[in-house]
Formats: sequence, C-alpha cells, structure tokens
Amino acid sequence: MDTMTREHPSSQQPEQGTSSRQIPITVTVNGQKRHGVVEPRLLLSDFLRHDLGLTGTHVGCEHGVCGACTVLMDGDSVRSCLVLAVQAHERELVTVEGLASGDTLHPLQQALRESHGLQCGFCTPGILMSMVPFLEENPNPTEEEIRIALSGNLCRCTGYQKIVEGVALAAEMMAEGSSPEDVGGAES
Ligand code: FES
Ligand code: FES
Repeated sequence: MDTMTREHPSSQQPEQGTSSRQIPITVTVNGQKRHGVVEPRLLLSDFLRHDLGLTGTHVGCEHGVCGACTVLMDGDSVRSCLVLAVQAHERELVTVEGLASGDTLHPLQQALRESHGLQCGFCTPGILMSMVPFLEENPNPTEEEIRIALSGNLCRCTGYQKIVEGVALAAEMMAEGSSPEDVGGAES
C-alpha cells in the first residue's frame, strides 16, 4: 500500500480557525513513486518518516540548524524540516535509504565506516546526504573545503576529524573507482 492518510502527530487537532484540508501529493522517493494525502503544513521530514516509514532521515532541531534531516530534492541537498511535504509534489527525492545499491554501500558510506566517521550515528544520514552532492560538485576537495561543506551538519560525538577523513577517503575512492582497502583505507 503506498497511499496513506496521516497527520503530523502534533497536528491531529486543527487549531481554531485553521483548515484540516488534505492534499494529495505524489513524490518519487529513491526511484519509487509514492503517494500521500497530507495537511498543507505537514513537514517533508515527517512525511518521509511517519507516512513513508523512511526513518533513516533523522530529525534533530526541526528548524534548519543541525542538518540531520537532509535529503536530496531534484539532486540538491535540502533540510526536510524546512520543506513542506506539498512542496515536494512531483519532485525526485533521495533519502539515505536510497544510497546503497542492494548490499553494496555507497563509497561515502564505506569510507565513513572505514574511517570511523561516526559514533552514535544520529548525524550520519544528514552528513551523507550533504556530502554526496558536495563530492559530485567537488570531486577533489581540500580539507578546508570539506570542513566548510560540513559546517552545516552538527555532530555531537566525533569532533569531526574522522568525518573529514572519511569524506576525503570517499573522494579518493570515487576518483579511483576502488574500495577503501585499495586506497589504503583508514585504520582505527
Ligand atoms: S532537523 Fe532539520 S536541520 Fe535539524
Ligand atoms: S556521531 Fe553522534 S551526533 Fe554525530
């Protein structure tokens, strides 16, 4: 079943004077057409997590600061807590669930794992979905460029160094079309 009607948990009782209008939307998520019927105020992050069950997209601050909710919309990284679900109508979305190809991780996922670029992992989906388009646009970044690109994603655990190393390793792997071991993947 891909058509569902669901409201944001906090929006089940319309406020006085507001509309409970429901709007049908269709989005392509990770290559699949998905349908929903949503309130106009439903956030894309909540639509993905609660309506479509794509809980890999994390929600931290819900106001555009932490970057945990980052997804791709028509190839650009966006903060899904700042996008309404209705704004994604007829758009192409990629969430972290769409990065791997079957059992084969995306090179950036492999590189972060090899570099120990995560601890609790809460920030990781957002970092991946921010760094994928960054590496596409800048396949040979300097450390400073990686740090600047990461500056919109907050991580409370790692101190960032291992994430920076992971992104640099991913760039190397993607350039060489190789695995972390082939390019001297990071040790602990
Ligand atoms: S939850 Fe969207 S930026 Fe923090
Ligand atoms: S690994 Fe825990 S917040 Fe980044």
